[in-house]
Amino acid sequence: MPENPIPGRRTFAIISHPDAGKTTLTEKLLLFGGAIHLAGEVKARGQARRARSDWMKIEQQRGISVTSSVMTFEREGVTFNLLDTPGHEDFSEDTYRTLTAVDSAVMVIDVAKGIESQTRKLFEVCRLRNVPIITFVNKVDREGREVFETLDEIADLLALDVAPMTWPVGMGGTFEGVYDLVSNRLLLPEGDSREFQGKVIQTTGLDDPQLDAIVSAQNLAKLREDAELALAGYASFDADAYRNGDLTPVYFGSALKEFGVDSLIDALAAHAPPPHALPADPAPVAPDHGEVTGFVFKVQANMDPNHRDRIAFMRLVSGTFKRGMKLTPTGHGKPIAIHSPIMFFAQQRELADEAFPGDIIGIPNHGTLRVGDTLSEKAAVRFTGLPNFAPEILRRVQLKDPTKTKQLRKALDDLSEEGVIQVFYPEIGSNWIIGVVGQLQLDVLLSRLEAEYKVGANLEPAPYDTARWLGGEPGDVKEFMDLNRGAMAKDRDGDPVFLAKSAWEVGYVADRYPRVKFLATRER
Ligand code: G4P
Repeated sequence: MPENPIPGRRTFAIISHPDAGKTTLTEKLLLFGGAIHLAGEVKARGQARRARSDWMKIEQQRGISVTSSVMTFEREGVTFNLLDTPGHEDFSEDTYRTLTAVDSAVMVIDVAKGIESQTRKLFEVCRLRNVPIITFVNKVDREGREVFETLDEIADLLALDVAPMTWPVGMGGTFEGVYDLVSNRLLLPEGDSREFQGKVIQTTGLDDPQLDAIVSAQNLAKLREDAELALAGYASFDADAYRNGDLTPVYFGSALKEFGVDSLIDALAAHAPPPHALPADPAPVAPDHGEVTGFVFKVQANMDPNHRDRIAFMRLVSGTFKRGMKLTPTGHGKPIAIHSPIMFFAQQRELADEAFPGDIIGIPNHGTLRVGDTLSEKAAVRFTGLPNFAPEILRRVQLKDPTKTKQLRKALDDLSEEGVIQVFYPEIGSNWIIGVVGQLQLDVLLSRLEAEYKVGANLEPAPYDTARWLGGEPGDVKEFMDLNRGAMAKDRDGDPVFLAKSAWEVGYVADRYPRVKFLATRER
């Protein structure tokens, strides 16, 4: 382990629209990083995992990935922590939280489809937090759009400067390889099948006569012309602009055929930011802050159906974590001795002895740790900026068997801690209300209630349309609550929530009670 491991750490996520190639690219990154040895393992592992519990059938049926995990690999002295984000738009909340735990992101785009809806949403989340983005335009081994069209689309739709770093040589039927504009290397297929990248030719530049002997005349003429135009017409790479989130370097490649993947890893190693200071109360915390601090960005229950375990995923922000260390969750009390922290390597969970800023550790617990919790040695800081979002869909939960109230309450509390749903307990009446951001979460809720808690339930329309947390002076908030008890509920932490019948009603009460704030997000 190098003396100061912080500069050599890259904690990142891949953002993309389903089908753009995130799984394939993940697999190839792990392969290049030596974390797995055979292509196909990530997918196989996914399938084995899916077979494990009933609710994951939804993943299979819909062909989407609902859970997220962490994968660590190393290459040439750099440690990469890749946080997988759930790919479906219904899980924007979970995804958002995962993106709070990364220092940079790779945006994967399908060369034939360009920027798609989900990519765009995820990009906006990154922009909110100034997460720097490297773009990987995938599938250049297939017919796609003109390179210029793709670059201009990124620039226009995302309002970013683009800096092309590599360039495809031909596409689809005429695909011959990828040219690296920065290192002047030509990446070529090798072997009889010419299926995969195997050969790298170092050239002296685009006018190197070697190229004439290797690349077909037509592709070479186009490469030379296009690259010259591109180098003149687009921004050149600027590390500061990239780190500020104003510019994205763009790599072209084929995850399937392994073209451009090593250029991408090199780019992450060379340019992506290492762990840095994160916003906290009372002051931002830098990685070299004297004590161990971190925050929980995800909680996953029942990873193993045989054990009712829960894993809290903590992003380490500062200090050197050592196994057995005691950390205290800010605001709720007792120190926890962390005897069996888990690091998530590609193939298995491994016990961690030490972890450094930027690393993710899994902390098994029985429900003490929640999303948004800060853990530290002295419990004197609190990380900010991990919000809950106001739900867009509210439903009343109806038990099929009324004797199972206790189990239902437990399940709803568990699942809300995991961030699958939000739960609201009305002040008056006994019908619990659950809230979600997307429809799919409702299906996940019902399947998991059945499979993991043996609770049959139906969901009915609720008389409410949205929810708002309250802010302002305690006296004003109390007055509002007293006058509106019929529409008040408590969330899982006992904080008051106003359940509104419509967006119009939110506007109406906001006008009538100008001293009360009606908040669409709540930060823990
Ligand atoms: P996702 O995680 O972003 O949803 O995408 P995934 O990697 O699963 O890839 C979606 C499809 O695109 C897969 O095909 C995959 O093989 C293909 N693909 C990924 N990268 C490339 C590439 O660089 N070139 C080409 N030509 N195809 C690529 P599939 O037919 O849906 O699955 P499979 O049967 O091949 O596994």
